Amino acid sequence: MPLCTANMAVLDQDTSKDLVGGDGLPKLPLPALKDTLDMYLRCMKHLLTEEQFNKTQHIVKEFGAPGGVGELLQSKLMERRENKANWVYDYWLNDMYLNNRLALPVNSSPVMVFPLQNFRAPIDSLRFAAHLISGVLEYKTLLDARALPLDYARGQLAGTPLCMEQYYRLFTSYRLPGPERDTLVAQESSVMPEPEHIIVACKNQFFVLDVVINFRRLNERDLLTQLEKIARMADSEEEQLPPIGLLTSDGRTEWAESRSVLMRESTNRDSLDMIERCMCLVCLDEATEPELSDSTRAMLMLHGGGVAKSGGNRWYDKPMQFVVGADGCCGVVCEHSPFEGIVLVQCTEYLLKYMIGSPSKLVRAASVSELPAPRRLRWKCTPEIHKLLASSSDKLQRLVKNLDMNVHKFWDYGKEFIKKQKMSPDAFIQVALQLAYYRCHGRPVSTYESASIRRFQEGRVDNIRSATPEALAFVKVMTEGELSTNDTEKMEKLRGAITAQTKYTILAITGMAIDNHLLGLREIAHELKMEKPEIFKDKAHLISNQFILSTSQVPTTVEMFCCYGPVLPNGYGACYNPQSDHIIFSVSSFHESPQTSSTAFVKCLVQGLLDMKDLCSKCNFSSNLTAQRQVQTVETHTQTEINWQNKTPQRTADLTKSKQTLPQVLLKTPDLTKVEAQTQTSSQGEAQAIYKNGGKS
Ligand code: COA
Repeated sequence: MPLCTANMAVLDQDTSKDLVGGDGLPKLPLPALKDTLDMYLRCMKHLLTEEQFNKTQHIVKEFGAPGGVGELLQSKLMERRENKANWVYDYWLNDMYLNNRLALPVNSSPVMVFPLQNFRAPIDSLRFAAHLISGVLEYKTLLDARALPLDYARGQLAGTPLCMEQYYRLFTSYRLPGPERDTLVAQESSVMPEPEHIIVACKNQFFVLDVVINFRRLNERDLLTQLEKIARMADSEEEQLPPIGLLTSDGRTEWAESRSVLMRESTNRDSLDMIERCMCLVCLDEATEPELSDSTRAMLMLHGGGVAKSGGNRWYDKPMQFVVGADGCCGVVCEHSPFEGIVLVQCTEYLLKYMIGSPSKLVRAASVSELPAPRRLRWKCTPEIHKLLASSSDKLQRLVKNLDMNVHKFWDYGKEFIKKQKMSPDAFIQVALQLAYYRCHGRPVSTYESASIRRFQEGRVDNIRSATPEALAFVKVMTEGELSTNDTEKMEKLRGAITAQTKYTILAITGMAIDNHLLGLREIAHELKMEKPEIFKDKAHLISNQFILSTSQVPTTVEMFCCYGPVLPNGYGACYNPQSDHIIFSVSSFHESPQTSSTAFVKCLVQGLLDMKDLCSKCNFSSNLTAQRQVQTVETHTQTEINWQNKTPQRTADLTKSKQTLPQVLLKTPDLTKVEAQTQTSSQGEAQAIYKNGGKS
């Protein structure tokens, strides 16, 4: 763990000049080099062979030596921190998203799945869409006026204000594919003027739905009228154009190439321009599966079911695509680079609450409409484009076949039970995920858990490395030491694992985790055109970045759930939504990997969660029993003393009595409902005190 002295450099930074702009948020701190290197070794030791670790230790020591490369890079990062609102933001955005060449569906774009809607007739889904668009326009008004209420952190270190920048990218950005790196185009750039239209995708056709006509924002009735027109236009067989949206589901380099082919024709340039500048997409999907389980809907949302279903009815570059299926399968597909899932949830919850709070009174669309008909986007398709479409379609089909998705609602308990154990629910679930992976695969693996760093200017996320040595010690006693280890020892290990996880969480959310820092050191070396430092060529670095387990907490207050795909061919995506009395897990993996199975993983996860509950219940029972016995003993001794003084010794009788009354007393003694977060503090100062102390709170 980091040492106090090594952290001083960070805390000595003058924070007063870090407060910039209207949001008043501090700049993201830069951890001390030594802390990050020590933590890196700590995180990796149990994930490497002894020989590999010794080699890595040597490389790290050399990198961090006084006057060495590490110190030079650190000083350059310090300068960068002085000059930028957020020293890691650009590096992180490129590394996490824009450099990634994988196709967006499944691999990158998370989705929110709404509760299954009960549409009895096709018009019902259009009404739903009109209502939803109305909500979007309301929300957009708030965004345009910069009138969204400020978010404050909840859970660990609750109460601090959070950076709101991500919200302003929801409806104003676009991910432009590039041959080597994509570009996140923002509306505030001169390239993109204010969008005032939505693109409606229907039967793989794209239509421009102007939401402001003659300076008037369309109301819900107008919107329904326009959607009905779109549905009719999409039905016209002779006007059907190829499913160009499929191209956006391809790898990013392939899509960049196809796009440049499309751009040769002015008709296509115009259509692309309209899509790239729109507010969002609304995808009116046709009915698909007869049985729409949670897992099926999650899959349909992630990839649209391929070309035979709604795979071409998408435009994956656009951050917000609302899907309204005629069969009631609805949700949002989101391009991840402009914002995090938490922001997506906030926006989506606003929309769903808007829809619940202002029920649609629409019976029918406006009968006479002088509104101009929405415009169908045209494409000029050469044989070359048809070939590219066939290739993109094949690849999407493979992705569809490959995705192994399992959405599981765990009903045995939720976060309230965990809080009653005086444990962080998030840490508890993370430890359960470690246990599940170990049970399935018999080894620990690099794990990613997103931790919000929105406490800082332009903050996005850093990584909580949940595969801690303490978690490994716990999962080992729960699996290998099943018979030889007693419950008290297991409980000690569980508490150790939870404490380690909670400490790392606090490091991460206070900007002191290691992943962003290591990335910064690597990227600044690259920028300085230095030879790649050995630490980043080392196999351990590769292993440390192969997140076989990619996890994220995405809690909701409205009924819905988030899911995403794995980030590696042999990995798992595990998204969870803790509720007070249940937890929703969305586990994904790839069928093509012989090593993984989402069903098996979920099975191990459920078993682990039940075992952990059992362990807590047994140990709490016995510790309460012990505590109670101690109280009883003290009381009895006092009583005995008094009785002795009164010369009426009754000790034996009292003990017998106390034993008989124990269960009743147990019920009364511990107030299990009033549990407070042990680690919860509300000020930055306290947070710093925690990491100054090397995370030892
Ligand atoms: N005893 C009792 N209660 C405790 C406790 C303890 N020891 N520790 C925590 N709790 C309570 C908290 O006070 C909180 O209470 P609340 O529900 O009343 O607010 C609750 O348990 C949840 O806290 P916890 O489980 O510790 O986690 P968290 O809510 O602080 O979340 C992270 C932790 C890392 C998930 C969060 O900080 C974060 O970064 N979230 C963003 C993740 C993200 O970006 N997801 C999207 C990626 S696309």
